[in-house]
This record gives sequence, structure tokens and C-alpha cells, in this order.
Amino acid sequence: MTAKKRGVFIVLEGGEGSGKSTQTAMLADAVANLGRTPLTTREPGGSPRAEEIRKVILGDESAGLDAHTEALLFAAARADHAHQTILPALGRGDVVISDRYIDSSVAYQGVGRGLGVAQIQAMSDWATQGLVPDLTVVLDIQPEVGLARASDANRLEAEPLDFHRQVRQAFLDIAETDPQRYHVVPADRSPHEVHSDLWTCAAAVVAS
Ligand SMILES: Nc1ncnc2c1ncn2[C@@H]1O[C@H](COP(=O)(O)OP(=O)(O)O)[C@@H](O)[C@H]1O
Ligand SMILES: [Mg+2]
Repeated sequence: MTAKKRGVFIVLEGGEGSGKSTQTAMLADAVANLGRTPLTTREPGGSPRAEEIRKVILGDESAGLDAHTEALLFAAARADHAHQTILPALGRGDVVISDRYIDSSVAYQGVGRGLGVAQIQAMSDWATQGLVPDLTVVLDIQPEVGLARASDANRLEAEPLDFHRQVRQAFLDIAETDPQRYHVVPADRSPHEVHSDLWTCAAAVVAS
């Protein structure tokens, strides 16, 4: 009998319409083909309570929500997601694939909203008790192209183009801080091309 592998935690990050949801599904299929069990999840959300918080954060009724309140709601949702969904799945040895995680808060709230990278990072680390992905893939795309693709308009997508440009740069800056754990994939290509690129690094992590 082979030893049971511990779980693997992979995160897909990027702006609106960069292809995170599409690539999450394609990655899950590839993981299953390797004989591992994928668990796809998303933020904000990913657990019943966190999905409720998602409705509050992204709903129109939260127009004008104070940036600090917004950041705390993201952190609260993430804490529940980490403890109720991600950690149990990793304990079972699953390959967890999350559509967004901490870096989205750092990029959108820390940089886009100007709340500070260090503050948002520290709060997120506290909320998740230091749960760090094994691999984070940043799907990089011009905001104009991504926003034109995105169909499920929400409150954050309605921000001006400059906000989305700042968010894009923030993801690239974060990726540069740890080239071992981050992989930037140009996302203005066909879904298949993006997946192939993504899979070259993800397969190594999943098989490790
Ligand atoms: N590589 C791609 N090229 C063109 N369209 C894409 C590509 N990937 C996804 N799409 C389409 O763009 C839209 C947004 O993709 P999605 O995966 O939902 O992005 P995200 O989850 O990052 O917002 C969807 O309609 C999807 O079918
Ligand atoms: Mg999506």
C-alpha cells in the first residue's frame, strides 16, 4: 500500500474575466485524470456561512460599504472557508483548487482600496492561521479584455479602469516576491493554451 499523500492547495488569482472559474474547472479535470481527488472552491465563499457573507459583500445593498468593513467581511468569510472547507479537504489528501484567496484581498483591499498591503496580509494570515497555498497561479490579463469577457457583474467589477489596473499590477508585484510559489500565466489566449501553461507547473506540485 502506498503512503497516503497529504493534500495540495492551489489558488488561481487574477482580475475579473481573467479565466479563473474556467481554469479552475479545467484544472480539476486534469487533477482527477492523475488519480487525485480535486475539490474546487471559491472566495468570497466556499463554505455555507462564507457564501452568506459573499452575498453581503457583493450585493448591491452594500453600495457605499466602508472599506474597512468590507475587508473584515472578506477576512471573516475566509476564516470560515479555511477552517470548514480547505483544511478538512487537505486532511483527506484532496487537491484543493480555490478561485481566489488572500492575494485578492491584498490586491483589491490593500492596494485598490488603499488599506495597506501589510495590514491586509497580517489580517488574512491571522484569519487563516497561516494557511499558505502550495502554488498560486496569477492569470494575467489587461483589465479591458477581462472586463469585456466577464458576465456576472458585481459591485467590485463596477470600479473604474484605473482601480483594475492597480489590482493587476498588485498581483504581479505579489508574484514577484516569491517566484517559487507563484506562476504568472498570460491569460489573453485560448482556454486550452492557458490550461497547458498552468498545468506544467500545477502537475509538478500535484505529483509531488
Ligand atoms: N481564454 C479565454 N478566452 C476567451 N474567453 C474566455 C477564456 N477563458 C474564459 N473565457 C470566458 O470569459 C468569461 C469569464 O471567464 P471566467 O472563467 O468566468 O473568469 P473569472 O472567473 O476570472 O472572472 C466567461 O464567459 C468564459 O467563458
Ligand atoms: Mg469567476
